[in-house]
Amino acid sequence: MEKKLEKAAQLLKQSSLSVALTGAGMSAESGIPTFRGKEGLWKNFSAQELANPQAFAKDPQLVWQWYNWRKDIILQKQPNAGHYALAQMQEFLPLHLVTQNVDNLHRVAGSQSMVEIHGNIFKTRCLGCGKIDELRQTNDDAPLCRQCNTGQLRPDIVWFGESLAHKDLQQVSAWLSRCEVILVIGTSGQVYPAAGFAAQIASQGGSVIEINPQPATQANITFANASGEVLPLLLQKIKEL
Ligand code: OAD
Repeated sequence: MEKKLEKAAQLLKQSSLSVALTGAGMSAESGIPTFRGKEGLWKNFSAQELANPQAFAKDPQLVWQWYNWRKDIILQKQPNAGHYALAQMQEFLPLHLVTQNVDNLHRVAGSQSMVEIHGNIFKTRCLGCGKIDELRQTNDDAPLCRQCNTGQLRPDIVWFGESLAHKDLQQVSAWLSRCEVILVIGTSGQVYPAAGFAAQIASQGGSVIEINPQPATQANITFANASGEVLPLLLQKIKEL
């Protein structure tokens, strides 16, 4: 572990631009169930079955119930040591964050340069007027837009079968094109485009560092441990160099 921490810290310190890609495992130690883990199912539905436009068109209340369930969990949770360590690393390093997580915890932990490529669970989009708004309450399974009063609201989340927001894709592509080291944290690597980022960096000659108790990526350095354990140690090593 010590040798790997030193090597990873060196790579990150020498890199002129790095990217951290995070997934649900990043928030596991905060108590938020991952999607493909044991507790990831809600009423026996998988994320794929609910997080798609067809499911919402067919039964918007069911999809909202699922999101309200997730929101209720998230509202009671706090960032963990991994979130805080990553936010601190961004103060020392040219390290940008690309997260698939919609739970807002990176922002609460203080991460600055960040793109939430799958959106944010506390945001809604009106299917009538298009307004993006914030909705923290969780007691309404059929919320209507407060701007136009008639439009149906949907979670402002990128669902299966939908494209990432254009400006997010542009920002992420710009970072990836110059990225020398990618830190892949807590993702099962099953959902594109994020699942392809590590291979892209490797093909550009960059380095891949993975942190995941069940590694899922071809990496130069693999920490098969929890991110809340490894990231504070990595931060410490970076500070020491
Ligand atoms: P998954 O649930 O597919 O994968 C979570 C990963 O985190 C697994 O590889 C675990 O081994 C790992 N893990 C668990 N505990 C960990 C810990 N303490 N530290 C580090 N890693 C840990 O979640 P994602 O890969 O994020 O999309 O899923 C990708 C997308 O699929 C999500 O953004 C979501 C989902 O459907 C949408 O909802 C649009």
